[in-house]
Amino acid sequence: RGPMRVALLGCGAVGSGVLDYLRGHPELFELNPVLVRTPSRRRDDPRAAFTALIGEALDGGPDLVVELLGGADGPAAIMQGALSAGARVVTANKAAVARHYDALHAGGESGRLAYSAAVGGGVPVIEHVAALKSAGLASIEGVMNGTANFILDRLAAGSEFGDALAEAQRLGFAEADPSADVEGHDAADKLSILIREAFGVALPPDDITKQSLSEVSADKAAEAAARGLVYKQIGRCRLAGGRVEASVSVETVPAGHPLAGARNEENRFVLTDAAGRTRALYGKGAGRWPTAAAVFADIMDMRRAWSGDERVQGRATVRAAALKSA
Ligand code: HSE
Repeated sequence: RGPMRVALLGCGAVGSGVLDYLRGHPELFELNPVLVRTPSRRRDDPRAAFTALIGEALDGGPDLVVELLGGADGPAAIMQGALSAGARVVTANKAAVARHYDALHAGGESGRLAYSAAVGGGVPVIEHVAALKSAGLASIEGVMNGTANFILDRLAAGSEFGDALAEAQRLGFAEADPSADVEGHDAADKLSILIREAFGVALPPDDITKQSLSEVSADKAAEAAARGLVYKQIGRCRLAGGRVEASVSVETVPAGHPLAGARNEENRFVLTDAAGRTRALYGKGAGRWPTAAAVFADIMDMRRAWSGDERVQGRATVRAAALKSA
């Protein structure tokens, strides 16, 4: 088979990285005009044609739709449409997947939708949860928002909250509306997806209790440090009597706790199985390259499934290359 026709929807921090990956393989992918809000701002970007019209971006019925837009409902509707039209879909949109999980999974044949980058950025936590599911997972806890972790890390180093947030935005970690990071909504979206993947239980993100980061200051972080404690935003879920308990909290943990050492935009996850065995996953949880590499791993899986060509490198190869360069 020749190149796969790809519609790239969104070209922000992550989309721009994915565009570079796609352009690196013209023998595998041909690109429709890329959907952006303001094409006139892209006049000096020679990498692709840009359009603000969804119809142009989806022109000709693409084989693969890569959805990297903001928001939840609109992108979910676009993905559902693409799946029912027979396309494959790759997304990093945790809000859309968390809020429209059933509709997205009902729309297409299994294996036509992938969203490995939606949780953990460059950390393959969804893959690990899927692999461990049959062993019976009992709980998951993690630092699952890079921006919140970055801000807490900076506060501990004496920075002001506003400066730390501005830097996370400048580095491309924060959501377009950073209150999603600060108030725990983004972590709750990710937790909701992990709960589905691990336990098969539907717990909407709005039903997960959250604590805001804004209560923490450099002074409070210094007081905690004097007592050997570190502030973290932690997402937790566990099965208790057939029900799932979940929360996103902002709390202090001892410096030796497995989640305490997460630096900058790092994400960390501790998965515990029914026998009490734990497995920890650490890595870059936000930012253009780790997330774009995770999206591209899904894209390569889709390309290989679409063509049935074993010579096309799949997820394992792309993930390994991304880990080496991280
Ligand atoms: N804003 C998110 C974060 C991006 O900081 O973790 C990655 O999902």
